Amino acid sequence: MEPISWPEFAGIHPFVPPEQARGYAALIDDLETWLAEATGYDAVSLQPNAGAQGELAGLLAIRAYHDANGGTHRDVCLIPSSAHGTNAASAVMAGMKVVVVRCDDDGNVDLDHLRTTLDQHRDDVAALMITYPSTHGVYEATVADVCAAVHDAGGQVYVDGART
Ligand SMILES: Cc1ncc(COP(=O)(O)O)c(C=O)c1O
Repeated sequence: MEPISWPEFAGIHPFVPPEQARGYAALIDDLETWLAEATGYDAVSLQPNAGAQGELAGLLAIRAYHDANGGTHRDVCLIPSSAHGTNAASAVMAGMKVVVVRCDDDGNVDLDHLRTTLDQHRDDVAALMITYPSTHGVYEATVADVCAAVHDAGGQVYVDGART
């Protein structure tokens, strides 16, 4: 996060003509390629230096995924009650309806409530947004079960990495 806030990187005008920003394009392309190689993902795309902008970009990618796979009607975004407020705002901006998933007394996603909620929205769930590490600062032990339950219902998982 620190280097991309240096003025040498961050000072560029947001509406600069692309032909005057070829060096930035090369930097971004190289970093995306390296991150995809390092992680094993098919592709990586970089977003501006703000959590909320990453959320909106991620949810728009999820919408596009559903549109391309016969899931245009999927418009429910599940958000744990512990989430940062920008999660719900981004979901609404992406055209989704927010459904809140409960957390237990320790602040972890309530897996039983998630499963019940998924049963209610099996046909229209688009995504779950999960903060990992969580809002209370831990790597929730059930995260793999949480992701599997959402995938099983046809949804995608947006990981909010603002606490890393
Ligand atoms: C978990 C979480 N998600 C999203 C955000 C929003 O990030 P930003 O303020 O950079 O848009 C924050 C900000 O503190 C956050 O803590």
